[in-house]
Amino acid sequence: MRARRALLYVPGADWRKIEKAKGLNADSVCLDLEDGVAANRKAEARSTVARAFSSLNFGKSERLARINAVGSGFEVDDLAVVGLARPDGLIIPKVSSAIAIQWTSDQLASIERKMNWSVGSIYLLALIENARGVVNLSQIAEASPRVQALIFGAEDYAADVGAIRTPGGNEVLYARSAVVAYAAAYGLQAIDLVFRDYRDPEGLSVEARGGAELGFAGKQVIHPDQIEAVQEAFTPNEAQIAEALNVVQAAGVNLQAGSGAFAVDNKMVDMPVIRAAERVLARARVAGKLERDG
Ligand code: COA
Ligand code: MG
Repeated sequence: MRARRALLYVPGADWRKIEKAKGLNADSVCLDLEDGVAANRKAEARSTVARAFSSLNFGKSERLARINAVGSGFEVDDLAVVGLARPDGLIIPKVSSAIAIQWTSDQLASIERKMNWSVGSIYLLALIENARGVVNLSQIAEASPRVQALIFGAEDYAADVGAIRTPGGNEVLYARSAVVAYAAAYGLQAIDLVFRDYRDPEGLSVEARGGAELGFAGKQVIHPDQIEAVQEAFTPNEAQIAEALNVVQAAGVNLQAGSGAFAVDNKMVDMPVIRAAERVLARARVAGKLERDG
């Protein structure tokens, strides 16, 4: 799966920001039709986003759009206009059951058939941001083979359950961790919450590192200044890569010789440690920090 370390939202009605976003080297750029767009500019945002996908080059960045929630009344037009502009994938917000995913998938299939694109090629990322979504994580994760990632939305989730947001984030830790666990269980990526205070680089780094430690593959961001630090936090550093390479190399020798548990640098290594090291190397590879066969 591709790297999605920083996923940058850009308000869909803001052409200046959209043009800016294409040169920022974020792994993923998401042109937003939902909460970043006022209700009276939804139609304008749709055509702006469609125009952006057909006329701008986003380089290596993944081209995503976030449609409005299924059931909001905006979703049919969002899909009709933006789907035809052939985004790489769509983010569906406020997913609370498999139905929203299946409905979107069916709509996309008819666009893909009409346009002679391969059916299933436009993939989906499901935003989990209410209590129902958390409770129904497994049906959402397996609702369609189009689903590649589960994204956690903290602000909507907190509002839904009546939590009060705190800097430490204990109030969202259960839901945040659940998203990681279900994503892993179904072979999907997990993408962490937004850090809203874009003038606080220190706080951002702490939260991004915390997300990587929990098992997230990336984080949503809302400002250009957040991209670099976030991408770094979700990329294994040189020391981590060296240690993982050591472990995997030693494992080759020791497992061959019949030892399931052995020592590397005075620390016990067994199967889970080897698997974790392989995950580190996989992450380094998708981030381009390691040869594919290295
Ligand atoms: N994508 C692309 N460019 C962005 C950007 C974004 N998300 N946020 C800011 N920029 C640009 C600005 O246009 C500005 O460029 P300019 O100087 O060439 O005009 C530059 O980066 C610096 O921006 P700054 O002045 O610091 O911020 P701002 O006051 O223009 O915008 C926000 C602040 C929060 C309104 C803006 O960052 C934003 O809209 N973020 C996304 C919000 C969103 O999508 N929310 C829904 C999903 S949670
Ligand atoms: Mg939201």
